[in-house]
Amino acid sequence: MCGIVGYAGGRQALGIVVDGLRRLEYRGYDSAGVAIVDEGELTALKKAGKLANLEKVLADEAVKGVTGIGHTRWATHGGPTDRNAHPHLSVDGRIAIIHNGIIENFSALRAELTAGGIEFASDTDSEVVAHLIAAQGGDLTQAMLAVCQRLEGAFTLLAVSADQPGVVVGARRNSPLVVGRGKGENFLASDVSAFIEHTREAVELGQDQIVTITPDSIDVIGFDGKAAVGRDYHVDWDASAAEKGGYDWFMLKEIAEQPGVLADTLRGRLTEAGEIALDEVRLTDQDLRDVDKIFIVACGTAYHAGLVTKYAIEHWTRIPCEVELASEFRYRDPVLDRSTLVIAISQSGETMDTIMALRHAKTQKARVLAICNTNGSTIPRESDAVLYTRGGPEVAVASTKAFLTQVAACYLVGLHLAQVRGIKFTDEVAAIVAELQAIPAKVEQVLSTMEPVRELARELAGAPTVLFIGRHVGYPVALEGALKLKELAYIHAEGFAAGELKHGPIALIDQGTPVVCVVPSPRGRSILHDKVVSNIQEVRARGARTIVIAEEGDEAVAQFADDLIYVPQTPTLLAPLVTTVPMQVLAAEMAHTLGHDVDQPRNLAKSVTVE
Ligand code: M6R
Repeated sequence: MCGIVGYAGGRQALGIVVDGLRRLEYRGYDSAGVAIVDEGELTALKKAGKLANLEKVLADEAVKGVTGIGHTRWATHGGPTDRNAHPHLSVDGRIAIIHNGIIENFSALRAELTAGGIEFASDTDSEVVAHLIAAQGGDLTQAMLAVCQRLEGAFTLLAVSADQPGVVVGARRNSPLVVGRGKGENFLASDVSAFIEHTREAVELGQDQIVTITPDSIDVIGFDGKAAVGRDYHVDWDASAAEKGGYDWFMLKEIAEQPGVLADTLRGRLTEAGEIALDEVRLTDQDLRDVDKIFIVACGTAYHAGLVTKYAIEHWTRIPCEVELASEFRYRDPVLDRSTLVIAISQSGETMDTIMALRHAKTQKARVLAICNTNGSTIPRESDAVLYTRGGPEVAVASTKAFLTQVAACYLVGLHLAQVRGIKFTDEVAAIVAELQAIPAKVEQVLSTMEPVRELARELAGAPTVLFIGRHVGYPVALEGALKLKELAYIHAEGFAAGELKHGPIALIDQGTPVVCVVPSPRGRSILHDKVVSNIQEVRARGARTIVIAEEGDEAVAQFADDLIYVPQTPTLLAPLVTTVPMQVLAAEMAHTLGHDVDQPRNLAKSVTVE
């Protein structure tokens, strides 16, 4: 939700800020703007729409200055218009601020400022900050401190002042902000991708902290005004990881990266003896032995990853495992205690619904384990333990490699729990581990056979609705397939448990309605397989066009498939790691055929930092 960049150095700030915004545009693309300070002058330019619109404006302007801030917006308060785009300025135009998050007490603050004679230039919650900082006057850091003490809600703020060239002040509460430490220049951003081409040395800030950067200094204080210290870390991927690398869309690149990142998720976490080694998870074996209940909390695709892994976790550990939408979790007062393990899954580590769910779990004394892709983000910081998924930067809004790596990481946790608790013998764990290690090659194989799926997507592009069905682990895969199609192709798509169709949804089937059917392996779980084959026949008898995803060698289902997509044979519990991939390709190609922006679907943002 909103991308933020700040720069203080010796080079021209505009290009650096705009390049940073380009890398952060996935966080929001309703409008964009910059403010640049040069020798006592402040220039602010902003424009509704994608960053390209702002760049057109900038092309006609000569904006000089070595200090600047920039913002790309996902609208919350106030529509996506020029006037609501950030930065927002003080009345005299000498202070500019940008904001990510929601200032919950903005109405009261706005009323107070209006009563004092301030005329607002936007409908946003954010603008109050510019006026409050101006009202404080004096040093920008001290003014920011005084203002933050009055704000409620979640925010990352950056401010520059025409009166303090060479200084950018940032503040964070429950919203992301990292510092990039350069040589003779420093950076602020929502995430490291904004400055990774300039420096890989970063400083992680804590909650409720203010940071002041100049070309040569980074100073941190808490909202209590006391000096504080950020945590230095080195970013272990480079700028090329955040580029499209020859693909038309980030999403296509990220789909293609899946075999490699899955291997990374597993790397070093399996000993030669076939045991799971999760040393970095800061939970002791005794902690894990004490667990008597597991809750997985997450949102969207990460929630589907949780639903998929519940089957394996319960089967392998015999511990009851519930999966909950993070946005619902705390409102129903779940029964949690010291023996409950809450697993919070999040690619970004900044999803506010998941943060609030984990905070609730901690108040109830449950232990929280984060499954996260983003080093140093809020969710791992606030959890008792973390297992990083090592997916590398995921830029496309639609999650793909994050999903597969989240599932793989959860499998590792499940196996680790089973091993520590003595429920599975080493050789049993080793056998599953061997199957897991074979998955990257299987995903590679799926990817090499996707041309017919792309052709199918082009054919289906006019369909008003597409349904997805599956049973057991195939059910959450169906939900994920439908989510991908909804968010990218903007058509009605729904996933169902195949057995539920006859209780209502089968009425949706009309002549030619495409139904994507996820078929379990006939080996080992033939009862499951046979039931899904029956469900396929039921929808076909009512006119559906059946698009069947089945494992190689499954000839029984072939006769009921209008379109058949074979994937390599995989044990039932691990099958989602291969059956999800054709659905990702289908959704991306359909969106492309329909002329949609595959990486930045409408109304969405990559990182949802509001509740
Ligand atoms: O960063 P997170 O994994 O916490 O994000 C959760 C969801 O917002 C996310 O998975 C979303 O549903 C996907 N972008 C959909 O493709």
